Amino acid sequence: MESIESIRTNFRFTDRDQENLRKIGELIAPNLDSITDEFYDYLTQNPKTAKYFQSEKAIQHRKETFKGWLTEVFASKYDHQYLLRLQKVGKIHVKIGLKGYYVDGAMTYVRELLRQQVSARVKDGVCDEELLTSLHKALDINLSALTSSYQEEKLNNLFLSQNVESKLVSVAGRMLYGLNLILVTGLLAMALGVVGLLCMDIYTAFTDEFYYGMIKALGSLLLLWMMIELLHTEIDHLQGGHFQVKIFVELALVAFIRKVFVASFKTTTPLEFALPLIGLFVLGIIYFFVARVEKPKGRHH
Ligand code: HEM
Repeated sequence: MESIESIRTNFRFTDRDQENLRKIGELIAPNLDSITDEFYDYLTQNPKTAKYFQSEKAIQHRKETFKGWLTEVFASKYDHQYLLRLQKVGKIHVKIGLKGYYVDGAMTYVRELLRQQVSARVKDGVCDEELLTSLHKALDINLSALTSSYQEEKLNNLFLSQNVESKLVSVAGRMLYGLNLILVTGLLAMALGVVGLLCMDIYTAFTDEFYYGMIKALGSLLLLWMMIELLHTEIDHLQGGHFQVKIFVELALVAFIRKVFVASFKTTTPLEFALPLIGLFVLGIIYFFVARVEKPKGRHH
């Protein structure tokens, strides 16, 4: 946590701001109760924050502490003691498992409530800009102190140091990217292999058995099609898209379909024909479940 001197300099908080806050405090004093009620209505409207206020007693107690905080925003000296009190409140929020995100949102709500109050009470409805500027500074300082505990909690939870951990994450990320590039290269080589297979099948069709060669070539074409799909998926993944397991199962399915094509020509025993069929059946079941879990693929063009 920064020192109060550093905070006052950084937020350009002056004695004049302190004086302005005192004036705002006087302006809104008659409405402290209604502001507090509105704030708690806001908290109880969101199920994520409402769950912290189960009993009427807890609500009443929190209303009192909130009112105490609000009074302090305008009456306190912005000194080291005040900072310590805010930090204590921040630590309580961390302890009850409340995300800093909700404190940020709540402060925006409080800011708007107070801005309306100040605007409504300044002479002839003309708002004194200087008062509002002081109000914003005070709420920013409060928010910064309230949420500083989250940052400290994060640092306490580090296993090594922040520097070492972020470097490790960055090295791991780069290695993963490198491994994915190797995978793409391997897939490209495989795709070229399938093109070779296709050429051989066509060659068989014209030089040896025509039907057998053509059926094999059809199977190889299916394989090539799947290889292209697989490459697309992998490139999508490298560009930040979701990884699709389904496509790997599809590729295995096509490989087995090709085997069934070939087996229908060359099989000598029923078992040799049955094996690829059983494999196909099992893969079909796996595909059914994987496809149910994974959402349809969207490609980035
Ligand atoms: C503008 C933002 C907020 C301010 C100024 C604020 C202020 C306070 C204060 C002054 C206390 C009393 C601490 C003590 O007992 O000494 C407190 C406690 C508490 N606050 Fe906040 N709060 C804010 C946001 C929130 C939000 C968004 C929630 C969401 C549920 C929340 C939930 C609580 C709870 C449950 C406690 C009681 C902890 C306990 O003692 O059991 N606060 N807060």
